[in-house]
Amino acid sequence: CGIVGYTGTRQAYPIVIDGLKKLEYRGYDSAGVALQTGEAVMVYKKAGKVAALEEFIGDQSTAGTTGIGHTRWATHGEPSDRNAHPHVSKSGKLAMIHNGIIENYAQLKNELLKDGYEFHSDTDSEVLLNFIEDIQYNNDCSLEEAIRIALKRVTGAYVILLVHADQPDMIIAARKGSPLVIGIGNNEHFLGSDASPMLAYTKEVVYINDYELAIVTPDQLILKNLGNEQLTPFVQKLDLELAAIEKGGYDHFMLKEIFEQPITIADSLRGRLMANEAQIILSGIDDIKDKLMAARRVIIVACGTSWHAGLVAEYVIEELCRINVEVEYASEFRYRNPIIDSDDVIFAISQSGETADTLVALERAKEQGATIFGIVNVVGSSIARISHAGCYTHAGPEIGVASTKAYTAQLAVLMMIALKVAKDKGTISEERFGNLCHELNQIPEKVQWVLDNEVDNIKAIAYKYKDAHDMLFLGRGYNFPTALEGALKLKEISYIHAEGYPAAEMKHGPIALVDDQLPVVFIASKDAYHEKIVSNIQEIKARKGMVISVVSEGDEITPNISNDVMRVPNVDEVIAPLLTVVPLQLLSYYIGVYRGLDVDKPRNLAKSVTVE
Ligand code: G6P
Repeated sequence: CGIVGYTGTRQAYPIVIDGLKKLEYRGYDSAGVALQTGEAVMVYKKAGKVAALEEFIGDQSTAGTTGIGHTRWATHGEPSDRNAHPHVSKSGKLAMIHNGIIENYAQLKNELLKDGYEFHSDTDSEVLLNFIEDIQYNNDCSLEEAIRIALKRVTGAYVILLVHADQPDMIIAARKGSPLVIGIGNNEHFLGSDASPMLAYTKEVVYINDYELAIVTPDQLILKNLGNEQLTPFVQKLDLELAAIEKGGYDHFMLKEIFEQPITIADSLRGRLMANEAQIILSGIDDIKDKLMAARRVIIVACGTSWHAGLVAEYVIEELCRINVEVEYASEFRYRNPIIDSDDVIFAISQSGETADTLVALERAKEQGATIFGIVNVVGSSIARISHAGCYTHAGPEIGVASTKAYTAQLAVLMMIALKVAKDKGTISEERFGNLCHELNQIPEKVQWVLDNEVDNIKAIAYKYKDAHDMLFLGRGYNFPTALEGALKLKEISYIHAEGYPAAEMKHGPIALVDDQLPVVFIASKDAYHEKIVSNIQEIKARKGMVISVVSEGDEITPNISNDVMRVPNVDEVIAPLLTVVPLQLLSYYIGVYRGLDVDKPRNLAKSVTVE
């Protein structure tokens, strides 16, 4: 979910609505605002995107200089008007928005039901809200005190923002597990799940930590812990530019982000990869060098597309560094009581740095003594902050829900790490190291080649296959994770069922699906397994499947046995995943567009999943 707040001298409504639009990538199945008018709290909420809320509000009154807003990704209760936030307490005076999950809500709800409370939604959030009000009423205490008492009883994750009818010009906020940033303006404060809603107004921000409570008025930000001790806010300066979070002439953020990759990959490499001197400088790796050299194994923990980046890293690190690598889904890792000790180094990969499953998995591993190394895109995010050391990916803000440029930036960083560690360990020859540095350095221009030369061809292919019901993505070796990522992109954006599989393993199941209606995408760039994948293509052709291949420039054989081809420049197989994924991103994008879908906001998904 995305949350926004404003208190100051301007009208809150336009700032809150605009902020919600910037945060819509975090969820968009319903939206709402609460405005403090001076003596009352007005709440408007609606199922659907922020635009539907605006239309619903129309010319109804939106006066007020303090307001909060929410765009939701449903956890408890279906997306509907009544489950939308803000929720209003029994007295009608207190309004609250919540991002996260209250795990013991059923127990709290039972207590309130006994006291005669009635609930108007299916959400855990409404329970927490009334629990707070109930405490305030029973203890005759301040709202702030009631929130503190309530939060000590709550298990789960939350960011909450509250406004009260009797307390004009005030927002109370608290966080545990979900992100919250407060922007400091001139006689005004901005609140957000990330900094994007406040970028147009201020560059000075405070990241709120877990178990902290902020009492925010136009001219004051009071920060406390749950023990009521006052804390000094740590003010940081943002270096994000507004242009970085706007579409800049592209139809969609996803397309803009795909096209930005030559620049974003170069940004990831900049100042780190010195290809001419065959040198890689990563101070984050130096910080944990001893641990890494002695590590029994590296465990990679991530979700979604970031998990696929981890899988590529497994192939590359094992090959170049001869270190055992395990790649774990964070959600499984955190619950299966894994064996971890102080000899383990954990690589956490996350675009947002806020994914709840990844964050909690890391907290557990850290408690058990493991060293945490973060590979994160969002500067100052929760995962970045709990890591012992790390490398930012420097892809800039990624807004499209389907990850593209953040993925290639993760790969660029992971490949630099593998090369550097291999050199430090002496598991790579000077010559191979130099060659791979050179290859990596050339990736931005090779990606640009694909964008300059292949887009029209890929559009035509997308149009041809846009009505498919299923698609298979197959690859071997370094291209196997790319097959998984290609399939994930397609299902996210087009809602076509897609599966990624190791090309040879296809014989053990998916081949049963092959007929003249099934498009099969092969990632068949030139590598050590090329002849093998050509055989796999023949196996599909023999069963009348339609083959779309990603091939290396100059490959004469694969195009002859494929129905359609998408070309990429030649590249060393170790580095290939950075390049071969680009045509697959474009294929998914155009298929989604031709199917008339909202590719930046695919149904049911959210960019940053801050609930488990
Ligand atoms: C969500 C997003 C994916 C992303 C995954 C992990 O599912 O829709 O694009 O790969 O979360 O997110 P993270 O921010 O941790 O990389």
